[in-house]
Amino acid sequence: MRDKKTLFIVTSVVIVFLIAVGSVVFYYQNKELAEEVILPAIGEDEADPAVWGKYYPRHYDSYQKNLIVDTVEEYSKYGKYGGAFEKESHLDRYPYMKNLFAGYGFSVEYNEDRGHLYSVEDVRNITPVRQKAGAVCNTCKSAQIPSLIDKYGEDYYLMGFEEINDQLTHPIACLDCHDPKTMELRISRPALLEALKSIGKDPDKATRQEMRSLVCAQCHVEYYMQPETKKLTFPWAKGLKPDEMLEYYDNLNFSDWLHPDSGTSLLKAQHPDYELFVNSTHYAAGVSCADCHMPYVKEGNVKITSHWWTSPLKHMEQSCLVCHRESAEELRDRVFYTQDRTYEMKNLAGTTIEKAIQEIAKSAQTAGVNEEILDQARTLHRQAQWYWDWMAAENSMGFHNPQESLYILGKAVDCAHKAIEKAQEARTAER
Ligand code: HEC
Ligand code: HEC
Ligand code: HEC
Ligand code: HEC
Repeated sequence: MRDKKTLFIVTSVVIVFLIAVGSVVFYYQNKELAEEVILPAIGEDEADPAVWGKYYPRHYDSYQKNLIVDTVEEYSKYGKYGGAFEKESHLDRYPYMKNLFAGYGFSVEYNEDRGHLYSVEDVRNITPVRQKAGAVCNTCKSAQIPSLIDKYGEDYYLMGFEEINDQLTHPIACLDCHDPKTMELRISRPALLEALKSIGKDPDKATRQEMRSLVCAQCHVEYYMQPETKKLTFPWAKGLKPDEMLEYYDNLNFSDWLHPDSGTSLLKAQHPDYELFVNSTHYAAGVSCADCHMPYVKEGNVKITSHWWTSPLKHMEQSCLVCHRESAEELRDRVFYTQDRTYEMKNLAGTTIEKAIQEIAKSAQTAGVNEEILDQARTLHRQAQWYWDWMAAENSMGFHNPQESLYILGKAVDCAHKAIEKAQEARTAER
C-alpha cells in the first residue's frame, strides 16, 4: 500500500516535470512563429527600415549586412564575375564598351552594382550626363517612390532627377516588398502590375513561390520610358525574350540614342535578370530568386529568411545545398564553367560589334556609298548590340539561364558579322 502511494507520487512528479519541460521546449520551438504573428502598427507609407526594425530586429540586422562591400581580393575567394566593390567600373573591365556606348551616358560612367542599402547614394553620385534621364532613374532606388508616384501622379515621370532625388532619405527597404499590415509580399511598383496585365497575368493570383521572384521583378528587369509621357514601362506585351522585346521596340520605332560613328539608332538594355531567369532550368523546376538569394539562415537561435541580397556563392550551404547533393566546391566549378563560357562569348560579341561600328563608320564616310545597303548594316548593328547588351546588363554572367545566354550571344555574334559584311558590300555595290 505504502509502496503504491510512493509510486503514485513519484509518477505524478515525473509527469508534471515532463509536461513543464515539454512546454518550455514547445515555447522555444514556436517562438519564431509567435514573433511573426504579432502584427505591429507600422504606417502604410513607412519607408524607414529602422521603424520596421523595432518589430523585426533579426530581419533588420540581416538587412544591414547589405552595407558590406568586399575588396576584390575577398570576393575572389568565392566568386569571379559579380560582387560588390567600391566604384568598380565596367568600362575598365571591358574597354570596348566605351566604343559601343559612344554618344551615351554609359560610355562616361558605368559601375558594377552594390548592395541595396547603397541605392540612393550610388544614383545620387552618378555622372550628371546619366541623370539627364530625369526622375525615372530614382524609381528602383528607394522605398519612398510609390508614395511619390501617388503624390504627383503621371507628372512624376516628367520631373527632373533632383526634384525627386532630393526628397529621398531611405534606400530600397521593407515597404518595397511587404505590406506593413500583414507582412505579406506585395508588388509596390505600378510598372510591374501593368506589365503583368499586358501578358494576361493577374498579379492578385500569383502564388507565394511566384511572389518570391516577382518582388525582385519590380526592379531587376528591362524597361524603357514612353517617348511623350516618359512613363516607365516594361516592353513585355509580345513576350519576355530578347527577340520579342526587339520586335516590340521595332514596332514602336523606339531607340534610346543615335551612335555618333555608325549612325545607328540603338537600344540600351537594363538588367533583365528576371526575364533571363524565366525559362531557365531552375525556373522550370519551381525555384525562385529568393531560394538562392534569400535562403533560410540562423540568426541567434531562430531561423529567418536572409535579407542580405548578395552573391549566393558566398553561402552555398544555405543557398544551394538544400537541394543539391554535390559539394559546394563541385557546384561552384559548375557555376564558373557556365560563367567562363558566357564571359568569353560576351567579349567575342562585344569586340565583333566594335568592328561592325568601324566598318559602318568607314562606309558612311565613303563617297557614293549604297545608302540602302548601309542602312541594312545599321539594322544588323542595332540587333547585334541589343542581344549583346542583354547579356552585358544581366548580372549573373549567364548562370541564371546558361542555354538562353549562349543563344542570345550567338545571335549577337551572327548579327555583328552580317553587319560587317553589309557595311563592306555598301562600299562595293552598284548604286
Ligand atoms: C539557382 C540559384 C539562383 C537563382 C534562382 C537566382 N540567382 Fe541570381 N545569382 C545566382 C548566382 C550563382 C549568381 C552569380 C554570383 C557571382 O558570380 O558571384 C547570381 C547573381 C545575381 C546578381 C548579381 C550579384 C552580384 O554579386 O553582382 C543579381 C543582381 C541576381 N543574381 C539577381 C537575381 C534575381 C533578380 C533572380 C530572380 C529573377 C535571381 N537572381 C535568381 C544564383 C541564383
Ligand atoms: C526585395 C524584397 C524584400 C525587402 C526589401 C524586404 N523583404 Fe522581408 N521578405 C522578402 C521575402 C521574399 C520573404 C520570404 C517570404 C515568403 O517566403 O513568403 C521575406 C520574409 C520576411 C519576413 C517573414 C519571416 C521570414 O523570415 O521569412 C519578415 C518578418 C520580413 N521579411 C521582414 C522584413 C523587414 C523588417 C524588412 C526591412 C528591413 C524586409 N523584410 C525587407 C522580401 C523582402
Ligand atoms: C526597389 C528596387 C529593387 C528591388 C525590389 C530589388 N532590387 Fe536588387 N538591386 C536594386 C538596385 C538599384 C541594385 C544596385 C544598387 C547599387 O548598386 O547601388 C540592386 C542590387 C542587387 C544585388 C547586387 C548586390 C551586390 O552585392 O552587388 C543583388 C544580388 C540583388 N539586387 C538581388 C535582388 C533580389 C534577389 C531581389 C528580390 C528578392 C531584389 N534584388 C529586389 C534594386 C532592387
Ligand atoms: C530549390 C531547389 C534548388 C536550389 C536552391 C538550387 N538548385 Fe540548382 N537545380 C535544381 C534543380 C531541380 C535542377 C534541375 C535538375 C538537376 O539538374 O539536378 C537544378 C540544376 C542545377 C544545375 C544544372 C543546370 C544548369 O542550369 O546548369 C546547376 C549547375 C545548379 N543547379 C547549380 C545551383 C547552384 C550553384 C545553386 C545555388 C546558388 C542552386 N543550384 C540552387 C534545384 C535547386
